[in-house]
Amino acid sequence: MAQRNFFVGGNWKMNGNKESMEELISTLNTASLHDQTEVVCGAPYIYLDFARCMLDLRIGVAAQNCYNVAKGAFTGEISPAMIKDCGAEWVILGHSERRHVFGESDELIGQKVAHALDSDLSVIACIGEKLEEREAGTTEEVVYAQTQVISENVSDWGKVVLAYEPVWAIGTGKTASPEQAQEVHEKLRAWLRSNVSDDVADSVRIIYGGSVTAGNCRELASQNDVDGFLVGGASLKPEFIEIINARA
Ligand code: G3P
Repeated sequence: MAQRNFFVGGNWKMNGNKESMEELISTLNTASLHDQTEVVCGAPYIYLDFARCMLDLRIGVAAQNCYNVAKGAFTGEISPAMIKDCGAEWVILGHSERRHVFGESDELIGQKVAHALDSDLSVIACIGEKLEEREAGTTEEVVYAQTQVISENVSDWGKVVLAYEPVWAIGTGKTASPEQAQEVHEKLRAWLRSNVSDDVADSVRIIYGGSVTAGNCRELASQNDVDGFLVGGASLKPEFIEIINARA
């Protein structure tokens, strides 16, 4: 059975400044972190270099998006090569805010996944259903379709973490129950087993995101197919340490 090291990402989103990041990073750098847990912080583009320079090297740095193809030098876009040049090793792609606020399609996200992996970045690939899709009973259909497009663009599953983030749980305080999270994660792992391979199904981390806190992380982490978290609001607070140590 493949050993899946617990993975905790902090998605800072469009929050903070150098002063607040210095304080947060100092807390992280001096904390006692579970040594088997992989930790990555997702900083805004303009703070990637700053975060990389300040964070202890045991903590990875992720961008929160990137451009989708190798050609072109378009105003305002950021290439995976630039992200790597800042020392960041990861990129978060397909976040629900990119999908449902900025209209990024499954196809565009798939292209970004391929381009990021081709540029030797590791990818946190986000999927998740909207409330109306869950209420309509189409959660599986939605997350399978999203995963299919991501999967078609993955050249190396060893550099991919799959993040299930139900849209209705993001920033709402309405966390999925441990049972709800486990049900979808188990189905996603079965999808990987059927559509990719046993090895990928057994080794890929499937992490949960959506209102994770110090108060709910341990019960969520106790679920067999919950391999970690992608944390928004709580990643900006000292409680992020407790979430990192949820499996300790
Ligand atoms: O990417 C993680 C984020 O979408 C979750 O946000 O604030 O619900 O933890 P939050």
